[in-house]
Amino acid sequence: MRGDIISAKDFSRVELQDFFDKVSAIKKEAKEGNLPQCGKGKALMTVFLEPSTRTRLSFQLAMIRLGGEIVDFGQESETAIAKGESFEDTIRTLDELSPDIIVLRSDEPYSTSRAAEIARAPVINAGDGSNEHPTQALLDAYTILDSVGRLDDLRIAMVGDLKYGRTPSSLCYLMAKFNNVTTYFVAPEDLQIRDDVTGSLDRMKWHKCDRLDEVPEPIDVLYVTRLQRERMPYIMRKQTSPEKYMITPEYVHRSPHAPIIMHPLPRIGEISTEVDSLPQAKYFDQVRNGLFVRIALIIDLLGFK
Ligand code: NCD
Repeated sequence: MRGDIISAKDFSRVELQDFFDKVSAIKKEAKEGNLPQCGKGKALMTVFLEPSTRTRLSFQLAMIRLGGEIVDFGQESETAIAKGESFEDTIRTLDELSPDIIVLRSDEPYSTSRAAEIARAPVINAGDGSNEHPTQALLDAYTILDSVGRLDDLRIAMVGDLKYGRTPSSLCYLMAKFNNVTTYFVAPEDLQIRDDVTGSLDRMKWHKCDRLDEVPEPIDVLYVTRLQRERMPYIMRKQTSPEKYMITPEYVHRSPHAPIIMHPLPRIGEISTEVDSLPQAKYFDQVRNGLFVRIALIIDLLGFK
């Protein structure tokens, strides 16, 4: 596919279709216990300068499932960053140790593209502040394809903190590659999608709404996100998820054409746990698909066909 994975904008439609076919093949091979052991003798380095559960562990497990090894950077407080080492020197140092892939998460927008300029090893952006999370977008789009059966002709509603979240922007960049996709951005004004994101959505039709009940039916996908309190100015942090944005079984049953319900997780009360057992709930499928998507990415970056 490519060297570094930095932005969801960098994928073409043809590449995405080809990639999702590979993910489906890997899913089947994993079920049959038949994954290629192309990771043998290779090392993947995970560098998470922000908290992570799903992304870090699924990259690590993906490499292990391919017979490879992992090295984890550990807590920032236990490394030379805590002594004041610069980001550039840290990346240079990690790269000098010759990992085969570096998976990097940081709280600073565009830091992973800076890292990719420094490192010879391919760098995967595992989240750069509020900017992007391209591998989450790949697993989100794959889950839509798997559940709805198509990526063209879709109507999507994105709900929650669209300003500070990085998964809505990346998913929009991917979905903008497909035909006839309309997205409704549902958020209060101070958490609405950023202009730099909508400015890059040439082929996508989009509308901003304040409430979920303003979104005209039918909707195929409801994509819910949490408040990113850690990125908000202090004064905004006390905000609680307003009730009008909470997804309950009543909402799902009221909706005549019940959309699938997605969330990158973690959820902090945005979706009632009573929704979990409904067939529309896909957020744990996203987690499962994330492993297969990351296996496919690693196979690609290691140059294995
Ligand atoms: C997301 C992230 O880190 O951006 N989580 C994830 O990787 N699945 C979403 C979030 O933290 O809200």
